[in-house]
Amino acid sequence: MSAPTAQGQARQILDMNAYRPGNGQSRPVERRLANLGAASVLFYRQPIEMVGAEGAWMIAKDGTRYLDFYNNVPSVGHSHPKVVEAVSRQIAQLNTNTRYIVSVVDDYLEALKALLPPELSNVMMTCSGSEANDLAIRVARAATGGTGIIVTETAYHGNTALVTEVSPSALKRGSLPEKVIAIPPPGAAHFGEDIAGGFRASVEAALAEFGRRGIRPAAFLADSIFSSDGILADPPGFLAPAVEAVRAAGGLFIADEVQPGFGRTGDAFWGYARHGVTPDIVTMGKPMGNGFPMAAMVARPDHLEQFCADVGYFNTFGGNPVAAAAGHAVLDVICEEGLQENARETGAHLLAGLRQVAAGDARVTDVRGAGLFIGVDLADEAGRPDPAFTVQVIDAMRAHNVLIGAAGRYGATLKVRPPLCLTREEAERFIEAFRAALAG
Ligand SMILES: Cc1ncc(COP(=O)(O)O)c(C=O)c1O
Repeated sequence: MSAPTAQGQARQILDMNAYRPGNGQSRPVERRLANLGAASVLFYRQPIEMVGAEGAWMIAKDGTRYLDFYNNVPSVGHSHPKVVEAVSRQIAQLNTNTRYIVSVVDDYLEALKALLPPELSNVMMTCSGSEANDLAIRVARAATGGTGIIVTETAYHGNTALVTEVSPSALKRGSLPEKVIAIPPPGAAHFGEDIAGGFRASVEAALAEFGRRGIRPAAFLADSIFSSDGILADPPGFLAPAVEAVRAAGGLFIADEVQPGFGRTGDAFWGYARHGVTPDIVTMGKPMGNGFPMAAMVARPDHLEQFCADVGYFNTFGGNPVAAAAGHAVLDVICEEGLQENARETGAHLLAGLRQVAAGDARVTDVRGAGLFIGVDLADEAGRPDPAFTVQVIDAMRAHNVLIGAAGRYGATLKVRPPLCLTREEAERFIEAFRAALAG
């Protein structure tokens, strides 16, 4: 089923636009390699040293200002003054764990829950999306008594031992464990016009395979914008039949909102809401604290009960008052500055502009997305996904002061994901840089 590429191979997520150590690296790069060793991951063939950031811009040590289109963390804008102020005020006053009552924490959780389905009324706070997904899988397994997990082919859900097992795009070698089945991503490349029907059939095939293996399903875990699968947003609603199928087999649906959550898709505050489904469990992270490390898993009380009866839960840093202050400020800024609406409007403008560029260049084979989350497929002359050309475009965009990354099975999809405060002028700037990068 896989599309042929100019370079054949599927790409591992950390491989995309990655620096490769060689001879003659600069002193700061040498230092980093010495400090992080084999675990070092840097962007770009010539890594950039950053010293500051504001709004949608990052500032390098040499004074260059880069328009940041590869950042789903400082989502309301780098160093947003309201978040900075909230964090500074709270850390100067009190920071402690959730075994004390601190009203800032409950104020925040109530504000967050007001944005979620009412039945998902219990929140487990963590420090990373990985921890949140790890918990979600454990809660789903405890609640259902099943163990099987269905994910998509190029999914990434984090870095703990458990979530690495459900993140095919993280594996450099080896295969998924028996309890995990990866299905094709919900795009036209696999399912043609009937994405909803094809995707549901894939989930059903995975469930049947679990049956043959003697494994009961626990959950279907999906990033509801399918970001590492190459950003697959349309048609809204395609997720619903797949969710129905997993529930009919006794499994839960876990919506991983680490990427699409907090207004990014423009149409809705959460990615799953575009599909008209109510998840059993929701996980979130990245933009939640605009850079303050915080994440969460939200579940129904009855689903949480079995897990907490078995092991219970405590997290030293998760859900501390400083995280709550950061998270609350983020929600306020999204609302006060109309950032979800901006994602919808500026995102539509950006999408239209990129489609215009695509109309004039056969190497741009698709532009798709929702709000300020857009995927742009790049191909060679024969129409095959072209990761080498994608890296060339990424480097050329950098030369035009724009930061951008790649996604998808072959690393041949530009992942367009700027802060939600992006202005029309900045969107225009991106389109012009893309045009210039294609021109070589
Ligand atoms: C969809 C998705 N889920 C989970 C994670 C893991 O989050 P974290 O890096 O905060 O552990 C990521 C990180 O990129 C992600 O993209």
